[in-house]
Amino acid sequence: MPSLDTKTRGRTSRGRLRALDVYLCRFEQALLERRDGPWAQAVFVDVGFGEHPWTTLESAQAFRALNPALTVVGVELDADRAAAAQVDADARTHFRQGGFDLPLRAEEPARLVRAMNLLRQGPAERVPEVHRTLARYLMPSGLLVEGSADATGAVLCAHLLRRRTDAPDDAPFREGLLFHTDFSHGFAPVLFRDGLPRDLRRKVRPGEPIHDFFSAWTAAWQAARDAGHTHPPDAFREATVGLAERVGGVDVDPWLSSHGYLVWRPKEGVCF
Ligand SMILES: C[S@@+](CC[C@H](N)C(=O)[O-])C[C@H]1O[C@@H](n2cnc3c(N)ncnc32)[C@H](O)[C@@H]1O
Repeated sequence: MPSLDTKTRGRTSRGRLRALDVYLCRFEQALLERRDGPWAQAVFVDVGFGEHPWTTLESAQAFRALNPALTVVGVELDADRAAAAQVDADARTHFRQGGFDLPLRAEEPARLVRAMNLLRQGPAERVPEVHRTLARYLMPSGLLVEGSADATGAVLCAHLLRRRTDAPDDAPFREGLLFHTDFSHGFAPVLFRDGLPRDLRRKVRPGEPIHDFFSAWTAAWQAARDAGHTHPPDAFREATVGLAERVGGVDVDPWLSSHGYLVWRPKEGVCF
């Protein structure tokens, strides 16, 4: 079978994935902290850390505030980048050359696999195969996060995919979509459209569920603005409430909506 790996540029920046770390620490705390049985060895894997391992190290620091013994494995397709990162390695922080067939040892199941800003090239049809490949390394109930963020991390969108044991073909459950903005570019739902995960980006067209979702979000945002909520964080918060009235599975947790996060978990999953 041909490799799913494709070379990409290594651009990254400090703080780019910080908002994702904050979300995971708050809403996946149990997953990050779990230490029973094989979970004691279960690692966090950052796939494709780029020309500097900044985001891996930032996540390691954030997650170890919850689980000081957590082992972190940064994986990079580019051998020179993997070699250069060795200066930041220590007993619990490893950097290894490898691709989607992750270079993990048998005694290193993954609790969390993150693949951010990787799937920019190559056919979108192959994305589910990449998800399946990466999810194979997860503990049951482990999480795969795959998506993209802009250069500074001001706008971020990601798939939340959960490993389950009852799926016939190892496909992870496409549990939800996570959106985040820090409001530095203001806010309108369209802000997220170009940064959607690769397999959804081309589907924002009439008749597709993701198009319906954006139409509903835009209508809710417009209604919020018409009601006087023009300040971007207010408009975001009000639009979340309005969207939840129009679309099932929108999380109305007040912390999320007041910090620029929107999580959509359609009951049947993001199966489109
Ligand atoms: C744009 S950088 C992203 C860096 C970082 N994840 C971030 O979000 O800022 C993408 C990196 O992923 C690496 N990469 C691409 N495909 C990969 C694969 N299949 N396995 C491991 N690394 C990969 C590239 O070599 C590149 O260094």
